[in-house]
Amino acid sequence: MAWHKVAKQEDLADGAVIEVEIGDRQIALYRVEGTLFATDNICTHAYACLHEGYLDGHTIECPLHQGIFDIRNGEPLEGPVDEPLQTFPVKAEGDEILVEV
Ligand code: FES
Repeated sequence: MAWHKVAKQEDLADGAVIEVEIGDRQIALYRVEGTLFATDNICTHAYACLHEGYLDGHTIECPLHQGIFDIRNGEPLEGPVDEPLQTFPVKAEGDEILVEV
């Protein structure tokens, strides 16, 4: 496990989700009400990128079959998804956002 710089603070607005990469791993990075969250960016149902989905509060809706996950703990909430998303520790240091993988 190590912390990786993945983005600048200004890259991620409040209420937004972006894709970042650590090696060949795709991670979705979120900011909701000022708090940062990080999950796997690939849906556990089939192959879809969650950063292209719909972020509503602390939930992300997959763009392909509309499965919904809680970004705080990765839990599947609705739709065809039944496997949780992996989540990652995330923190800000100055202008940098870091994720632990
Ligand atoms: S690929 Fe995400 S719900 Fe099917």
